[in-house]
Amino acid sequence: MHAFASVDTEDISTNTSANEAFQEIVRRAVDRRGFLKAGAGLSAALFLAGPLAACASRGRGPESALLGFQGIPAATDDAVAIAPGYTATVLAPWGTPLLTGAPTWKADGSDDAASQAMQVGDNHDGIHFFPMDGRSDEGLLVINHEYTTVENGEYIWLFGRERRKALNPERVAKAMNAHGISILHVTRNAKGKWQVKPRSLYNRRITASTQMKLAGPAAGAAALRTRADPSGRRVLGTFNNCGNGWTPWNTYLACEENFNTYFGSASQSDTRTAAQKRYGIEPGATAYGWEKFAERFDYAREPNECNRYGWIVEIDPFDPKVQPRKRTALGRFKHENAAVTLAADKRVVVYMGDDQRGEYLYKFVSEAAFHPGRYNPDLLDAGRLYVARFDDDEVEGDLMGRGEWIPLDKAANPDLAADIRFANQADVLIHTRLAADAVGATKMDRPEWVAVHPHSGEVYATLTNNDKRTEVNAPNPRKENIYGQIIRWREAGGDAAATAFEWDLFVLAGNPAVYTDRLDPKSGSANITPDNMFNSPDGLAFDQAGRLWIQTDGKYSNRGDYAGQGNNQMLCADPVSKEIRRFLVGPAECEVTGISFTPDSRTLFVNIQHPGENGNSHWPDGGTAIPRSATLVITKDDGGIVGT
Ligand code: FEO
Ligand code: CA
Ligand code: CA
Ligand code: CA
Repeated sequence: MHAFASVDTEDISTNTSANEAFQEIVRRAVDRRGFLKAGAGLSAALFLAGPLAACASRGRGPESALLGFQGIPAATDDAVAIAPGYTATVLAPWGTPLLTGAPTWKADGSDDAASQAMQVGDNHDGIHFFPMDGRSDEGLLVINHEYTTVENGEYIWLFGRERRKALNPERVAKAMNAHGISILHVTRNAKGKWQVKPRSLYNRRITASTQMKLAGPAAGAAALRTRADPSGRRVLGTFNNCGNGWTPWNTYLACEENFNTYFGSASQSDTRTAAQKRYGIEPGATAYGWEKFAERFDYAREPNECNRYGWIVEIDPFDPKVQPRKRTALGRFKHENAAVTLAADKRVVVYMGDDQRGEYLYKFVSEAAFHPGRYNPDLLDAGRLYVARFDDDEVEGDLMGRGEWIPLDKAANPDLAADIRFANQADVLIHTRLAADAVGATKMDRPEWVAVHPHSGEVYATLTNNDKRTEVNAPNPRKENIYGQIIRWREAGGDAAATAFEWDLFVLAGNPAVYTDRLDPKSGSANITPDNMFNSPDGLAFDQAGRLWIQTDGKYSNRGDYAGQGNNQMLCADPVSKEIRRFLVGPAECEVTGISFTPDSRTLFVNIQHPGENGNSHWPDGGTAIPRSATLVITKDDGGIVGT
């Protein structure tokens, strides 16, 4: 997220554990494989099979059978650019009236808290289209609203005139209502235009104040009880919902990411516990200021409230009567997204990243199997949570190394059984990061989205960047990693429930226009060219055909290390040839995030988040308008499948 101009909380590592053992090992791996030398001759062979050599030398992509569109150049305009033959239109920007009786959005941003509760929220992030009866022209579009821009470019309270120093209960209530989730009943009309269906009973807002439940093994635990909720099972709201997931039983998963930035204290003394520090809670006031008006956000007054955030929230978009559930079995950390797949025996597997420097990749395997056609209400409440360790040992073929999923299970893992910090499994789940530290997980360069290939079951994950990395390891092979990389792994036996895997790196982003020596790690891997380069991969998803869509949330200065990379963007990759092509460029100072297709793959929904986060955009309304986060509806002009 980009909540603050000066402080990006994911950028501050709070991980001081000592899992650095294999830094050495990996350096060997990199040398042995010539991994970073891709494009530089002999040693490149491994990393760029066949056509990619042509890609690098010609500077324009070879003809991947999978990628049918023409790549576009980088751009710095305050506009959306898209591949020729495609159109992107705007749907449901922040403030769009959603509930019956919602007022028209006021163009100066002056709507009050009550209005905001009936309008689409701010800073669209994760998104999913749930078709009605399998249709591709009607469904429920569910959108996360990650945060509100707090300092520079303050839009939600009278842009340019009011600042956070003028916070009051009404403004904080509006901010809380701009967070959360929107559920929109959308239809496509005969002319192909998508719109929100007015007065639909499915239209719904979930905010930072919506009543929901804590469910699973940690529900009711002492550390989840507060004065307002002695049961430890009832919680108000969800916020900082970043990426998302969805289940085969048609529920939506909203992932709570930087929850720590909402908890502060007016107390002069620093009452933070070791665990609160490990989760990045800072002393004193927050930029959001909620703690000034809602006591539960003051950790000195209500120390357990913060333990009730940092979870994955399961929402039934089709049934407003079912309260959202925070699924504690999936662990508590700064959740990015949730990539759901099925194991060979149909148990549910959820892959998850914890987005902060030096944090980990996780997976959950359910106890019970998924049964199509049956009611599967609580499959995510029982199962085993694992954290990833990436080793560097020789693996035949082109993979870099092996890895292991380490159980975060008090009963099954001797390291945790002996650790008195965890009295029971609830403690392990509430303090997942501490448990992962204790079992030797591998520190990664800010894990963002995970995506599972629809045919091979191989898993891909974005490691967005880590410019503070001082010691490398195999999957994170660059110091001061300003560009990021995408890692992938293959589970043993092709079974998502396996506890062993093999992995390699799919791409190292870089800038080969600035760093023209392809031996320079900053030039990126060989599938990065001056024509497709980008930084900070973040959103990630496969379409049904197996194209890998990559969205960026990076530096858009277009200068220095980022010269020629332009605004944040969306690219598409062929996972076999490794070719990458730029498909879309977002408007000024935005991030491109969230991705979902209709069942026919002919409509693609993505989000433009925080356009003009530093005050330099008027997208999408133009003129002198306040910039607004919004969804883009992308179609091919000939009605074809997106990506072809
Ligand atoms: Fe909200 Fe890690 O992005
Ligand atoms: Ca963001
Ligand atoms: Ca993200
Ligand atoms: Ca990001």
